[in-house]
Amino acid sequence: MDDLAKAVEILKKGGLVAFPTETVYGLGADATSASAVQRIFTAKGRPSTNPLIVHVADESVARRYARHWPEAAGKLSRRFWPGPLTLVVPKTDAIVPEATAGLDTVGLRSPDHPLTLELLRRFNGPVAAPSANRSTRVSPTTSQHVHEELGDAVDYILDGGPCRVGIESTVLDLSETLPRILRPGALTKEQIEAEIGTVQLWQGKADQSTPAPSPGQQPVHYAPRAEAYRFDREELTQVAAWCREHANVSWAVLAMESEQLNRGMADLLPLLSDQHRLILMPDDAEEYGRRLYATLRALDDQGVSVLWVQLPSDTPQWLAVRDRLTRATQPANAKMSC
Ligand code: TXA
Ligand code: MG
Repeated sequence: MDDLAKAVEILKKGGLVAFPTETVYGLGADATSASAVQRIFTAKGRPSTNPLIVHVADESVARRYARHWPEAAGKLSRRFWPGPLTLVVPKTDAIVPEATAGLDTVGLRSPDHPLTLELLRRFNGPVAAPSANRSTRVSPTTSQHVHEELGDAVDYILDGGPCRVGIESTVLDLSETLPRILRPGALTKEQIEAEIGTVQLWQGKADQSTPAPSPGQQPVHYAPRAEAYRFDREELTQVAAWCREHANVSWAVLAMESEQLNRGMADLLPLLSDQHRLILMPDDAEEYGRRLYATLRALDDQGVSVLWVQLPSDTPQWLAVRDRLTRATQPANAKMSC
């Protein structure tokens, strides 16, 4: 039996299959089976209030599970699927409520990876799959990461190499009158607007008192094990000063490549050692996204205990990366003074 046949059989029996996508690896189960979906939540330690994305082979399969398929959904799926765009639409009863945290809507997406598209075609049904990491941890971008995160909790891992995009899909809510981005991602707001006109950006923070439209968007998410703090380019000299005063701490600074001539960089360079690292991140948003999670993981593996992360500029192409970095870090102020 080939790998795919094995994976399909496991899904059909209610098991868990991790698979590659262009964004990050997913942890999949049959979205029409409550017990299969339940196993995802257990394996991840994920709160049952956080709905899962349901993966499909193409638009025609998506329509089977949408109670209503808005015109915008048709336009966008034809333009961007397979690809890093999740469309939230009213769901049919075939998708079990456990998959959508009881919501009346479902997030549907067709992922752009040949192996997984073939898996979805052969399975010929909807596959619920969050990112294949333990809840609140950094998403996996290689099969090795999935293995480290989930070990025996997953029945089968399909290895499709490192993820090409590296950052999760854009989640777009089409279930209300105005289309709204619930989670910025690999596909930009501008790309979506070019197809369907103005879309809003949901910028609320999920607090306990009001129900969030996208319950997975807690402020702290995607976090490395290290204590992580974010800073702006103007603060690099202060970060370097903190680093000089804390030679006993294992720290790392993630700065933008373009800061090589920043004065703070000159202060930092003489401090570097095995315990004190500087990582220069690409000035290109796509390349940055591709490398981000693997970089955070590698620093964790090296035992870094304090991580300083420079935020890239506040411009549209950096929206998704800034979103992830902001969730993975705390503001620098608190740490600077200690
Ligand atoms: O790129 C991706 O989207 C990856 C790959 C595996 O496809 N998946 C992923 O899934 O990132 P997950 O579970 O880690 O994130 C799903 C996000 C959460 O923020 C969740 O709240 C939101 O999508 N979401 C899913 N269904 C929703 C719904 N019906 N209404 C609102 N938000 C929804
Ligand atoms: Mg996730």
